[in-house]
Amino acid sequence: MLVEIVSDYEAMSERAAEIVTHQIRKKPDSVIGFATGSTPLGLYQRLAQNHQARGLDFSKITTFNLDEYVGLPPSHNQSYHYFMWTNLFDHINVDPSKVHIPQGMADDIDDFCQWYERRIEQAGGLDLQILGIGANGHIAFNEPGSSLGSRTRIKTLTEETTQNNARFFDDPDEVPRYAITMGVGTIMAAKTVLLLSSGESKANAIRATLEGPITAMVPATIVQLHQRAYVIIDEAAASKLEYRHHHGIIEPKQQNP
Ligand code: GLP
Repeated sequence: MLVEIVSDYEAMSERAAEIVTHQIRKKPDSVIGFATGSTPLGLYQRLAQNHQARGLDFSKITTFNLDEYVGLPPSHNQSYHYFMWTNLFDHINVDPSKVHIPQGMADDIDDFCQWYERRIEQAGGLDLQILGIGANGHIAFNEPGSSLGSRTRIKTLTEETTQNNARFFDDPDEVPRYAITMGVGTIMAAKTVLLLSSGESKANAIRATLEGPITAMVPATIVQLHQRAYVIIDEAAASKLEYRHHHGIIEPKQQNP
């Protein structure tokens, strides 16, 4: 695990963009797992700039998104489909036939989840999975208590998560209660994971993730077992780490994760 503490959100996004860009240049047909949420937005802006200004070629990559709300059509402005196209895919030369985002409107969700796992496998597995983290330590929609070996499946969102989401919907009945999410085991099978976090509101979750015991109650703690995990966090997110000083004296570019 290579923990890099950078000054702020912009520096986190910059460093993440370097890692993703390097991955695509090294392996143009990389299989990349994308995340939603406010955390990766700065990274996505930089990837779009790297495409538009520096010719970074996304045409051969295959993408798999972490999760999607059940019951929201792709055209809904709160769906993760909508998020990915408006914030990244519309601005790069990704091949739409190689984009995979869970289908929240699938008729048979269990069938869909099994197909999604097979597609990841057929694509050769995830080379790089980008991750944010919830304030309660969830990754994707693997809420506390999720099996650490889980695969893509439907999950019930916690009340905390649905309450957080309610502000984005006009009608409270529209707020999704379920999501399709890659499992913790699916994420762990990625060759590299890149966990990003910014801001004071994530400081407890980051401390538990990096310094706490591995537990299903904080699903992100599983990254401690990953062989190639980059954790890029800003000062505010790192502010509650006991070993904060140690991370500060490591020269990241001299080390492998
Ligand atoms: C949702 C997403 C996660 C994301 C989390 C944090 O729960 N399913 O993938 O990491 O929100 O979001 P944010 O980056 O906005 O803090």
